[in-house]
Amino acid sequence: MATLLEVKGIYKSFGGHEVLKDVNLKIEELTIHALIGPNGAGKTTLLNIINGIERADRGNIYLLNMDITNYTVEARVRVGLARTFQLLEVFSGLTVLENILTALFAKNPWGIIKSMLFGERFHPIEGQLKKRALEYLEFVNLSHRADEEVQNLPAGEQKLLEIARALALEPKILLLDEPAAGLNNRETRILGEILKKICREKGITILLVEHDMELVMRVSDLITVLNFGEVLAEGPPTLIQKDPRVIKAYLGEDF
Ligand SMILES: Nc1ncnc2c1ncn2[C@@H]1O[C@H](COP(=O)(O)OP(=O)(O)O)[C@@H](O)[C@H]1O
Ligand SMILES: [Mg+2]
Repeated sequence: MATLLEVKGIYKSFGGHEVLKDVNLKIEELTIHALIGPNGAGKTTLLNIINGIERADRGNIYLLNMDITNYTVEARVRVGLARTFQLLEVFSGLTVLENILTALFAKNPWGIIKSMLFGERFHPIEGQLKKRALEYLEFVNLSHRADEEVQNLPAGEQKLLEIARALALEPKILLLDEPAAGLNNRETRILGEILKKICREKGITILLVEHDMELVMRVSDLITVLNFGEVLAEGPPTLIQKDPRVIKAYLGEDF
């Protein structure tokens, strides 16, 4: 299997406080790779550096061996990185379908400009985009909500919508920051099934930052544990669950 994303020797400080120290990570193609660790361990900061919102002080990010360290956020989206955030990031005031269309428009701005400039002649483009938007909704079991205003959806469905919107960018890798936060058990189970489906059926690799250990253990191929900005351990769920260092730093004796 090929390495899709490589994080090499990443350091990051905020005002003299070292948040990431020589972090190295290899994410293999077509896997679900979880990143876990206590609050403040640096997980969100690492995601921010991978997707370009933050710059590392040192170190490099590679996508399929291509150095993307100096790429802008938009350039990273174009080469195949998409993410969702720790807090819900849906566009309220728009319908569920319109939320997906914003991503498709972002991916295909020239098509939209043409349809505006040339009017009806290019209307088929709009119909085509709507059809594709509906397919993404179908994939996360939300097509019955297409015309609903986003703010009327429960948290679990808003999270699925956010994921569908990221999928519409057709990424190679999807970065998820605590997607199960605020979801109940049932919503979390559904989320887990959809994550596996994204990986298996769409061939999209996932980097999953998550506190819900049941979800992490159920869906992950490999787990990296971050503690005080350093990689503490890495391995498959069965080994990580039993690792005394991980239990001491994060999971607790009762896990
Ligand atoms: N923009 C920032 N400015 C200053 N400190 C920050 C900033 N972002 C994160 N931090 C600090 O970096 C540490 C790691 O935070 P974060 O990456 O959010 O951890 P996690 O996601 O693992 O909970 C924390 O101590 C946090 O307060
Ligand atoms: Mg975080």
